[in-house]
Amino acid sequence: MLIRLTWRYIRDHRWPVIAVALLQVLSTAAALSLPTLNAQIIDEGVVSGDIGYIWQTGGIMLAISAVQVLCAITSAYLGARIAMAVGRDARRDVFASVQQFGTLEVSRFSPPSLITRSTNDIQQVQMVLLMTFTIMVQVPIMLVGGVVMAMRQDTQLSWVLVAVIPLLALVMGIASTRLGPLFRKVQERLDGISKVLREHLSGVRIIRAFVMQGAERERYATANSGLKDVSLRVGLLMALLFPAVQLIVMSAQVGVIYFGAHRVEAGMEVGSLFAFLNYLMQIFMSVMMGMMMFMIVPRAEVCADRVMEVLNTTPSIAAPTTVRELPPGRATFALNDVSFRFPGAERDVLIGINVELSPGTTTAVIGSTGSGKTTLVNLLPRLLDPTAGAVTASGIPLPKLSLDVRERTALVPQKAFLFAGTIATNLRLGTPDASDDELWEALRVAQASEFVTDLDARVEAGGKNFSGGQRQRLTIARALVRRADLTIFDDSFSALDYATDARLRGALGDYLGDGAVLIVGQRVATIRGADTIVVLDGGQIVGSGTHEALMESCPTYQEIVLSQLTAEEAA
Ligand SMILES: Nc1ncnc2c1ncn2[C@@H]1O[C@H](COP(=O)(O)OP(=O)(O)OP(=O)(O)O)[C@@H](O)[C@H]1O
Ligand SMILES: [Mg+2]
Repeated sequence: MLIRLTWRYIRDHRWPVIAVALLQVLSTAAALSLPTLNAQIIDEGVVSGDIGYIWQTGGIMLAISAVQVLCAITSAYLGARIAMAVGRDARRDVFASVQQFGTLEVSRFSPPSLITRSTNDIQQVQMVLLMTFTIMVQVPIMLVGGVVMAMRQDTQLSWVLVAVIPLLALVMGIASTRLGPLFRKVQERLDGISKVLREHLSGVRIIRAFVMQGAERERYATANSGLKDVSLRVGLLMALLFPAVQLIVMSAQVGVIYFGAHRVEAGMEVGSLFAFLNYLMQIFMSVMMGMMMFMIVPRAEVCADRVMEVLNTTPSIAAPTTVRELPPGRATFALNDVSFRFPGAERDVLIGINVELSPGTTTAVIGSTGSGKTTLVNLLPRLLDPTAGAVTASGIPLPKLSLDVRERTALVPQKAFLFAGTIATNLRLGTPDASDDELWEALRVAQASEFVTDLDARVEAGGKNFSGGQRQRLTIARALVRRADLTIFDDSFSALDYATDARLRGALGDYLGDGAVLIVGQRVATIRGADTIVVLDGGQIVGSGTHEALMESCPTYQEIVLSQLTAEEAA
């Protein structure tokens, strides 16, 4: 996945990547040539006292070092640029993907996880790329090159390498098989911690109100110590592995010096011995760098998996390839034999629903908590697709229309939500060219003009600087500005007192004119004036008609009405 993800983005940066690789090869080759030159200085300059040769070769070494530094700097710069560009592109695509997601996809991933995926996870992948471009290309070249160069210095001493290399391979093997899974676990537990933290922060007031700090502290402590445990195991393994590598290499060094002394007696040049030792150090360095990679790659692998999962999710709600057009004029929305079941749920939330919402009529849906009202409402702007049956606009099933069909509906959601900005920017959300007068009219109808004095008044994220009732009225005004074919109020009058509720409904009829209205409510007073009242019980329609007709024929409706009447009369 890591490779698939990075390949997807690196393709666009082919030339810089090749340049980085070449520069890295050049820089490693330069590093590998230095010990040999050094050996020559010792053998041919120092031993024979040829100062001129020492200066000359020293000069060459200096020049090579300069080239090496230059290559390293340039490739690091280019590498960083590529890695950051890849990060930017991946974030852009994740964002675009999430924008296409419907309710179901978002709840499948959960919003906090989507945030972590598009920030932290991409960051980890970016980090591996950066490391790859700056040091990782060098590792294999340095390792193989170091061995070859060392062998060229003295074949007999190379037996030491033959003994050492399998040992190093063993250590690297352990590192890759053991550290990988452990880092996967670290990442999972980190996720766990951020989940607890996020929930804690967003629910902090509730936690205080219910005095749950103790339980919360324990929940966090569990997640926290889970992370500590696995991190400790990682630390322990590393604390063993790094010194092990060091021990192996240092023993090799001792071996080289010991056998080297005998070899020098037998006629080997002293410089070659130094060169051999230098190459041993380079081999050591490359093994250490390789192990660093084992530390970060598994983590980035997990992250890449998570990012790809988002990128590969095709939203269940998408526009068709051949789009049918709605006829001109007001559209009639209808539910035909609609059933709906949430993925993974055991029961249908809606069963065989038939409702028609023609222009100029008001339809109401009443039913107890959990009877499926919000689910029904979400089907109309195609926020959800039914599992059976069809939702149609002017007789055309919504999946055959472009997603712009949503412009024909205006939804006041049950949970009032405003965006950071001003009152005006919020009201113009769906209708950017609405005039100030139109905004004021919508505010008046929504009974919001009494607390809004300035269209440019600030709105904080989520609308937090307004009360629940004020927020609800502003979301009503926002929907009204659209003058849509179908305006849906999902329990939008619940936070209003009876008098305001009545005034609002009175003004609504005139304002929306020939548009259809769907009101979801729990209060009989709110819905009794509707042309058709649909009574929902356990996802099924158990009655439908006017208030008077239902009072005669529908026991569920009578029950609701009676329970509320007594409650009101008693009050
Ligand atoms: N995202 C979801 N995943 C699974 N089940 C869900 C989901 N949303 C709602 N449900 C289930 O669907 C049923 C109907 O929920 P819905 O929100 O439509 O009820 P409602 O009539 O609007 O209730 P209320 O009056 O409280 O707003 C509930 O039993 C609920 O458990
Ligand atoms: Mg609801």
